[in-house]
Amino acid sequence: MGINVALDGPSGAGKSTIAKAVAKKLEYVYVDTGAMYRSIAYYVISKGADLSDPEQIKPLLGEISIKLCYTEAGQRVMLNDEDVSDKIRTPEISMGASKVSAIPEVREFLLELQKNIAKENNIIMDGRDIGTVVLPNADVKIFLTAAPEARAERRFKELQEKGDKSTYDEVLQDIIQRDYNDTHREIAPLKKADDAVEVDSTELTLEESVEAIYKVITDKT
Ligand code: C5P
Repeated sequence: MGINVALDGPSGAGKSTIAKAVAKKLEYVYVDTGAMYRSIAYYVISKGADLSDPEQIKPLLGEISIKLCYTEAGQRVMLNDEDVSDKIRTPEISMGASKVSAIPEVREFLLELQKNIAKENNIIMDGRDIGTVVLPNADVKIFLTAAPEARAERRFKELQEKGDKSTYDEVLQDIIQRDYNDTHREIAPLKKADDAVEVDSTELTLEESVEAIYKVITDKT
């Protein structure tokens, strides 16, 4: 059994960038659970099914296999042997993932996969419900937050660099809507675990956030 670090928080708080950097420093495996929900949204859209209709989505789950592969080029997300790593990083898929993630069968489907990965390795797993549902006995739990405007600003810059045409206001509205979806869904809503350490990255640079998270982990392990 390896060391398990659970990293939760709202969209755009910098979880994945920070988790990747810290995992590298500690030589842990980084597990991006958001990429799994995104892959399901991608598949559902590719089949022309309704992202909010459980009856259309349930039968599709049996056709889906998701693997996280670790290559020289970093982590790649494989959906039925198709590399979808880049295709799942669009605003459409972000919102789609937020929708499918409210469906209990989708969460159950991914829960086992997530628990199994955690069993075998020293990991940092990021998501919304890792400390509360997926790994309630994690060695370290961190809840990473930042003001919505700071998160929108960072996401906006990232999208611009990729040539995406979304405006800052659209990105902010998107973040506010996803926060609402994630905190209000009935199953596994986004919330801080009672025993999680909270880190607010609003005023921190990326390097400072990495340092802060690294310190929480090394202090506790
Ligand atoms: O973290 P990321 O933005 O890639 O996640 C995309 C969406 O997947 C989130 O908005 C959330 O709705 C969902 N998600 C979730 N539980 C997780 C990880 C992601 O519900 N553990």
